[in-house]
Amino acid sequence: KTCQILGIPTQSGTSERGCIMGPTAFRIAGLPEILQNLGWEVTDVGDAVPAQPPAVSHPNPAVRNLDAIIAWTESVTRRAYEMASTCDLPIFLGGDHSMSAGTIPGVACRAQELGQPQFVLWLDAHTDLHTLHTTTSGNLHGTPVAYFTGQPGFEGFPVPAATVDPRNVCMMGIRSVDQAEKRHVAAIGMTVFDMRTIDEQGIVAPLNSFLDRVRHANGRLHVSLDVDFLDPEIAPAVGTTVAGGATFREAHLIMEILHDSGLVTSLDLAELNPFLDVRAKTARLMTDLAASLLGRRVLEHKTRTY
Ligand code: ARG
Ligand code: MN
Ligand code: MN
Ligand code: MN
Repeated sequence: KTCQILGIPTQSGTSERGCIMGPTAFRIAGLPEILQNLGWEVTDVGDAVPAQPPAVSHPNPAVRNLDAIIAWTESVTRRAYEMASTCDLPIFLGGDHSMSAGTIPGVACRAQELGQPQFVLWLDAHTDLHTLHTTTSGNLHGTPVAYFTGQPGFEGFPVPAATVDPRNVCMMGIRSVDQAEKRHVAAIGMTVFDMRTIDEQGIVAPLNSFLDRVRHANGRLHVSLDVDFLDPEIAPAVGTTVAGGATFREAHLIMEILHDSGLVTSLDLAELNPFLDVRAKTARLMTDLAASLLGRRVLEHKTRTY
């Protein structure tokens, strides 16, 4: 099994500086070697470089760094498509979550070529469903889901290389949704398991109901893991912490179930801001979660099937 790792050192999607150091922190935490030791053939393909930023402006004066985000989206889409075409599992090291405006259209383009539907599991405190018109913070890491599901409101952006049907998007861990996003969530038909649902039902049943759908559709599955999905106590290295996040055990269990499903075809590790970390604990936790997703387990028991 082959895996390619790409760094996407973008922080233009946030107003907090530091995500530019994310890919470096993952490498220092030893992610490539750890995955190699799990039996993967790993190639670190280096860092993405943004395309030439276009001259653009937007009527919403809040919007920040539009030109830079467009430039990253363009180049990351291309890199993601190439990686999805040449290895079994591309891993994208962010970088703020605007990275997913490139990674997901890129891998979805490959899925389209293979004639398989693309699914997305979005693990985040936030829905990141703003458009250029609805964002009030102007931080474009709050917009990638609207972009890759093909919503209007992205003037100046390239037309997405491929879009994902919102009905094929499942979100877990959601606990901070802006008004405009609430209206949009309801309208476009994504599956959203918010924190209340997880408190009531746990993670196993909701996750398995989604994985069943991916399996029956013979789909490809992209997982996008935002650091703020996790509880701030265990994962402080993120600019947008929200109390009440996923626990260490919930997060690892999700990764183990995903591994056992055999369905995951690409992965984003987003929003790590090492400048805000405490003795590298968040970088290490995110790295360990990736290891669980790629096959690390406590005992060598047989793969469970649900
Ligand atoms: N909804 C808020 C905003 O638009 C927060 C977005 C947080 N997104 C993230 N990728 N951390 O500003
Ligand atoms: Mn996010
Ligand atoms: Mn978030
Ligand atoms: Mn907002």
